[in-house]
Amino acid sequence: MVQTAEFASPDAPFRTSRKLRTDTAVGPEAPVQPFPIYLSGPVQRGFGRGGKDLGCPTANLPDESLPAMSTVTQTGVYYGYAQVHDAEEGDNAVLPMVMSLGYNPFYKNKQLTAEIHIMHEFKSDFYGKEMKAVVLGYIRPELDYVSREALIEDIEIDKRIAINSLGRCGYEAYKMDPHFILPKL
Ligand SMILES: Cc1cc2nc3c(=O)[nH]c(=O)nc-3n(C[C@H](O)[C@H](O)[C@H](O)COP(=O)(O)O)c2cc1C
Repeated sequence: MVQTAEFASPDAPFRTSRKLRTDTAVGPEAPVQPFPIYLSGPVQRGFGRGGKDLGCPTANLPDESLPAMSTVTQTGVYYGYAQVHDAEEGDNAVLPMVMSLGYNPFYKNKQLTAEIHIMHEFKSDFYGKEMKAVVLGYIRPELDYVSREALIEDIEIDKRIAINSLGRCGYEAYKMDPHFILPKL
């Protein structure tokens, strides 16, 4: 985890009440600058609240991988694809993901983290394994919440937005990006 002077924790907008959000695709028909952003590194342990508190386990990327994101973009929620190498068969595919980059204002973290939730039921945990990701689009800023339930509800909407956004041809193509290790044909 890192905290840099040029990327210090901003005040998060506060979500005080339920706000209507749709789950339709966001962003242009294909990624535009600064996307795609390529990330990789061994999976780190976070505080573990994602799985326990939110029903949304996340894999943290190491500090060294953060400048690739933080120098070109802002804190917030993103979508793309990720792959865990050397995972069990079926768990090592290129899979849709949502990523939270920031300070988790609901939990008042002091350090910047990049946490990836891969939309897949893994057979076992994969701490220490190499994860590769390509970030393709932005969904929303990080928010503070009146309740854990409100945060969970927004994360579920983020996941649906990501699936709908990635379903477009200009995004689906990145599943086959050479950044990932693809099965030999
Ligand atoms: C798609 C997604 C969106 C998130 N949005 C927010 C947010 O708006 N505000 C916030 O405080 N945390 C947000 N989080 C981060 C969660 O608070 C974080 O994943 C949780 O604290 C688990 O971290 P831990 O495993 O390090 O404990 C989001 C996480 C994901 C996966």
